[in-house]
Amino acid sequence: MLSPQWLDELRSRVTLSSVIMRTTKLQKAGREWKACCPFHNENTPSFYVNDEKGFYHCFGCSAHGDVIRWMTDQRGLAFMDAIKELAAEAGMEVPAPDPRAAKQAEQRATLHDVMQAAQDWYRESLDTPAGAKARAYLDSRGFDAHTKERFGFGYAPSGRQAIKEALDQFEEPMLIEAGLRIGVDDKPPYDRFRDRLTMPIHDARGRVIGFAARILDADKKDAPKYLNSPDTPLFDKGRTLFNLHRAGPASRRSGRIVVVEGQMDCVAMAAAGFEEAVAPMGTALTEHQLTLLWRLVDAPILAFDGDKAGQRAVLKAIGRALPMLGPGKTLGTVRLPAGLDPDDLIRQKGAGAMGELLARPTSLLETLWEAERDAQPHDTPEAKAGLKARLLDHVDTIQHPDIKALYKRELLERFSAFAFPPRQQGREWKSDWKPRGRGGALPRPALSREAADRLLRITGGGGRDSLAASVIAGLMRYPDQVMRHEDALLRLCSLEPKLALAINSLIEAAEMLEPGENSPISGELGPTAPPDNARFAFLGEGLDPQVAREVLAEAVSLLVERPALEAALAAATARFETDPEAAFAEQQRLLKRKLDFERRLGHMASKRASRAEGPPDNSSSGDADPDGDMETD
Ligand code: UTP
Ligand code: MN
Repeated sequence: MLSPQWLDELRSRVTLSSVIMRTTKLQKAGREWKACCPFHNENTPSFYVNDEKGFYHCFGCSAHGDVIRWMTDQRGLAFMDAIKELAAEAGMEVPAPDPRAAKQAEQRATLHDVMQAAQDWYRESLDTPAGAKARAYLDSRGFDAHTKERFGFGYAPSGRQAIKEALDQFEEPMLIEAGLRIGVDDKPPYDRFRDRLTMPIHDARGRVIGFAARILDADKKDAPKYLNSPDTPLFDKGRTLFNLHRAGPASRRSGRIVVVEGQMDCVAMAAAGFEEAVAPMGTALTEHQLTLLWRLVDAPILAFDGDKAGQRAVLKAIGRALPMLGPGKTLGTVRLPAGLDPDDLIRQKGAGAMGELLARPTSLLETLWEAERDAQPHDTPEAKAGLKARLLDHVDTIQHPDIKALYKRELLERFSAFAFPPRQQGREWKSDWKPRGRGGALPRPALSREAADRLLRITGGGGRDSLAASVIAGLMRYPDQVMRHEDALLRLCSLEPKLALAINSLIEAAEMLEPGENSPISGELGPTAPPDNARFAFLGEGLDPQVAREVLAEAVSLLVERPALEAALAAATARFETDPEAAFAEQQRLLKRKLDFERRLGHMASKRASRAEGPPDNSSSGDADPDGDMETD
C-alpha cells in the first residue's frame, strides 16, 4: 500500500517544473513559472507552476494538480504507472506487496466471507418462528423498520450446533477463528451466540467483522446482557468503533462526531436523525479509537451517562486524550441527566433535547476542571493544595508544549479564582480608563489585562496565523461588528478552540458598548497596535470604514470556512491508506478549493494595497497569497 508519507516523499523529491518542462515550454515568472496552458488553447500565458507548493494551476481553464496529477492528466498515464515512473526518477522504490501480508489478506478475505454468511443467516433467522421473541423485543424498543433493517438486527437461535449446521460450507476451525464457535480444549465446540438478538459490527469500510448480541430474557440474571465477538484476525476491539462506517461520512456533512457508550445508543441516535454516533465495545476509549475520531473531526463529543460510572468513563477518556492533544485537536463533552443514556434521553425528552445538548458541548479543559473541583470538598488548605496538585498532574501528561503551557495557565487561573475568591465583587474592566490622545470622556470598552494579553498573543507579531490575527485586530478596531458576526464567531470557538477565549473576551467587551458607539477595544494599557503580520484592508489607515467592514465580514467568513476545509483535507489524506485513488481525487478537489480560498484571501489583501497604499506590492500572478498557506500552527 502507498502511504501518504511515501507519496509526500515522492512529491518532494521531484521538481514539478522540471517534469512539466519536458513537454511544455516554461518561462520564469518571479518565484513561479508560467506558460500557455497545455490543457486549453490560448495565446497569453495563464498557466502557472509553483515548485514550492508543488502545484500547477491554470487561471484560464482551472486545470490544477500536483506532479502525479500532471502525469495522469497531461501524460495520460494510469495512476500506478505514473507512480512507477516518478519513483524511478526520484530514486525511490515502490513498496512491493509483501507475500506474507498477501497471504494474511487472503485468509482475512475468507474470514470476511464467514462473517457475511453468519450475518445473512442471523438476519434470516429473525424472520423465522423462533425469531418471534427477538422481533417482539425490537418492537418493544420502538425502532422503526428502516432503522431495524439498516442496523442489520438478527437473531441467533438457541441450539449449540445451529450455526455449524447452517454454515456447513465452512470448516470448523474457520468458524472458531471467526469467533462464532467456541472450542475449548477437550470439549466439543459450540455456538457462541445463542438465543440472542444480534447486531453486526462493521469495519470502517462497512464489512462485517464481529457481532454484539443482546440477551432477550431479562430474568436470566447470571448471563451477561451483551456478548461481543472475541478479538479475531478481523476484529480488534480497541481499534474498532461501532457504526464508524456510517458515522464517518455523516460526520463530514455535520462536522461533528458523537461518542456514546452503548451500541443501542448509536441505533437510537440514528433513528432520531443523529447519524454521526459511534460507540466503543463496552470498554474505555483507546488511543487508537481517539486517533480514528480525530481523523474525522477536531473535537469529537463524548455523550456519556450523567451518572458516576459515565462520568468516570469521561474522565478516563480525557486522561487518554491529554497526552495526545495537538493544535486544534480536542474533545467536547455533554452531560446527560444522571441515569439516562442517549437512548433513554431521546425516548423521554425527544430528539430536540439531544440536539440542544449536542449544540453546546463543554470544553475538555472545563470538563477536567469541573470534575476535579467537584471530586471532593475543598474547604481546607490541604484539600486545596491537593486539588492544585491533581490539576498539575494532568497538565504534566500533556505532550504538546504550547497546549501544556496554556492548560497550566488556564487551570491555575481557575484554581486561584476558586481557592482565593475576590473579596469584593466588581467588574474586571476599568471604567476610568481614558484612551490616550483622544480626550474622550466616555468610558471606553476596555479589557482586563489578562484578556488584552490574550488578544495580543494572537494579534501580535510572531503568531503565524495572520488571518486570525487580522480578524481579531479588525474586530478590535470595529467593535460594532462583533455582535453582527456573533453567530459565526461562536461557531469559530468550537471549530478553533484556541481562539475561543479571545473571542469570548471580544464579545464581552463589545457587549459593554453603548448602541451606536464605535471606539476601538483596548487593553488596560491603551489601544493595542495592529498586528505586524496582518495584511488586510480593514487594518490600513485611510480606508473607507464601510469598505473596511465589508472586507472584515469576508475575512470572518473565511476564518470560519478554513477549519472545515482543513478537516476535509486531513480526512482525504487519511484515506490514502485504504483507497489511494479515490483519496487522491478527493484531495485534488479539495486542494483546488483551498487554492480558491487563498485567492479570496489574496483578493482581500490587494484591496488594501490598491485602496489604501497605492500600487500592489509583489504578486506576479493572480495567485497572491498573503498567508503562505493555511496552516495555523
Ligand atoms: P449498557 O449496560 O449501558 O447497555 O452497556 P445499553 O447500551 O444501555 O443497552 P440497553 O439499552 O440496555 O440494550 C453499554 C455497553 O457496554 C457493553 C456493551 O457494548 C454495551 O453497549 N456491555 C454491557 C457489554 O459488553 N456486556 C454487558 O454485559 C453489558
Ligand atoms: Mn440503554
